[in-house]
Amino acid sequence: MEDQRIKSVVILGGGTAGWMSAAYLGKALGPNVKVTVLEAPTIPRIGVGEATVPNLHKTFFDFLGIPEDEWMREVNASYKMGIKFLNWRTPGAGQSTPRSIDGKPDYYYHLFGLLPNHENLPLSHHWVADRLAGRTDEPFDYACYREPPVMDRNLSPKYLDGTRWTNYAWHFDTNLVAAFLKRFSTEKQGVIHVEDEMTEAVIDYRGYVTGLRTKGGKLIEADFFVDCSGFRALLINGAMREPFLDMSDHLMNDSAVATQVPNDDEATGVEPYTSSIAMSSGWTWKIPMLGRFGTGYVFSSRFQSRDDATLEFCKMWGLDPETQPLNHIKFRSGRNRRTWVRNVVGIGLSSCFLEPLESTGIYFITAALFQLAKHFPDKNFDQILIDRFNAEINTMFDDSRDFLQVHFSFAPRNDTEFWKACKDLELADDITEKIKMYRAGLAVNMPITDEGTYYANFEAEFRNFWNNSNYYCILAGLDELPDHALPALAARPEQIESAQAVFQQIKKTQRELIDTLPSTHQFLRQLHGR
Ligand code: FDA
Repeated sequence: MEDQRIKSVVILGGGTAGWMSAAYLGKALGPNVKVTVLEAPTIPRIGVGEATVPNLHKTFFDFLGIPEDEWMREVNASYKMGIKFLNWRTPGAGQSTPRSIDGKPDYYYHLFGLLPNHENLPLSHHWVADRLAGRTDEPFDYACYREPPVMDRNLSPKYLDGTRWTNYAWHFDTNLVAAFLKRFSTEKQGVIHVEDEMTEAVIDYRGYVTGLRTKGGKLIEADFFVDCSGFRALLINGAMREPFLDMSDHLMNDSAVATQVPNDDEATGVEPYTSSIAMSSGWTWKIPMLGRFGTGYVFSSRFQSRDDATLEFCKMWGLDPETQPLNHIKFRSGRNRRTWVRNVVGIGLSSCFLEPLESTGIYFITAALFQLAKHFPDKNFDQILIDRFNAEINTMFDDSRDFLQVHFSFAPRNDTEFWKACKDLELADDITEKIKMYRAGLAVNMPITDEGTYYANFEAEFRNFWNNSNYYCILAGLDELPDHALPALAARPEQIESAQAVFQQIKKTQRELIDTLPSTHQFLRQLHGR
């Protein structure tokens, strides 16, 4: 019988998606499958993508056998303990410091990790019971998590001896990531690197791609093709003619202006979090690394011109728009109807894209690679493998799209046409149901395991990625509270009372952490040896 195993894979594109795919598939498929990356040196990468989520190490680098400290040094990485949302409730133009709301600064944190349970109910629910009854005016994040006071002081998620005390993700230099993974894949995994530009996909009578022709006159043949050509999506939208489903009826932003700003770490410290600063027609990211931060204003061109957005952005950081090197980017929000068609699968920007409000881009790449390895076909291309993969990716994307839309729909600010229009966009049925659950006091997407099991098992995390803790951070952070406490809890005053000990323990731990942790700057200097 003919050997049906896939023997060769070509990856088109050498951005973050292309080199992550090469490294991951090189390992997952083993030495009997020849992996080639075809990359056009004349076509630039997108050049952004610097903030991540915590599963990156376990699902990607740990899978490759690369220790955390090693890859962190290679890519100038820093730590991210969550996202700080500034000025999402108060009107005004871009301002990098929080404005005031009800006498308090306008910011809240979206933190990683699951909330502790008390009597089988997440602490969020005990906090709501207290808050709605007027027993506490402490914000949700400070009451329920250990991290906020630590983050306010720019302290580290690790002690100097390397002991970690919390969940964290990373910021890194995106160009260094591609360069590091290129070295790793070609030197350690035997991946072949071809520098040339694809000009045409050769397609057989069944509609399958058999090879890619290049400007340099090569024909690169393979059994299976991974499209990592970025927003061009040359194979999946081009050769396969699979439609891209535009989702601008859920998320209106379509443009960004980005740059790098030097930072005096000695004077200000290194913030161990990403910031998301609300602007007049969108929001700006701030991603700190040693010696600099990356920043970009993500806006809707329907509501602000490129020039006006650039001015608002540069004014906020005190930059001169005439001399500052600026990267102007147009993007599309949405996903392919199917991202795997016949023997072509799209990964990265060619597959789907959401504005980087929750750092989903690199997560989507990692998750797609995990799912691709799990559903990897032979030459029969069993349709059920393809259908299941596509269903997983569609659900992953649509859930994340809905979670992002919640940020804009429930932000109380209404001061510009952009913010008003955000309130007019419809939410999908699934998220509408979740909001109803939240309002009724129920937990949304409550994981059935504890934190250790949840994060040790990517399959479990993938199925329940945005869970009760995430929804609470955003909705309670925006002052959108449930209508009432969960009735089953409200009927148990002794349980509400006994939860006070948990809140007090969090306060005690916060004080201990503040007294004992090194600064993030100190830790990173030790790690990077500078
Ligand atoms: P990318 O465009 O980088 O690479 C495409 C590759 O295809 C290039 O190597 C190019 O040469 C090659 N190519 C194209 N045509 C070719 C041809 N004809 N022949 C050969 N090669 C060809 N994600 C995240 O996790 N955190 C974040 O903070 C952000 N921030 C962010 C901000 C903004 C404004 C955007 C638009 C995106 C993000 N992202 C992100 C997403 C992140 O940038 C993205 O997911 C990764 O960089 C992956 O990009 P790709 O590799 O898919 O495309």
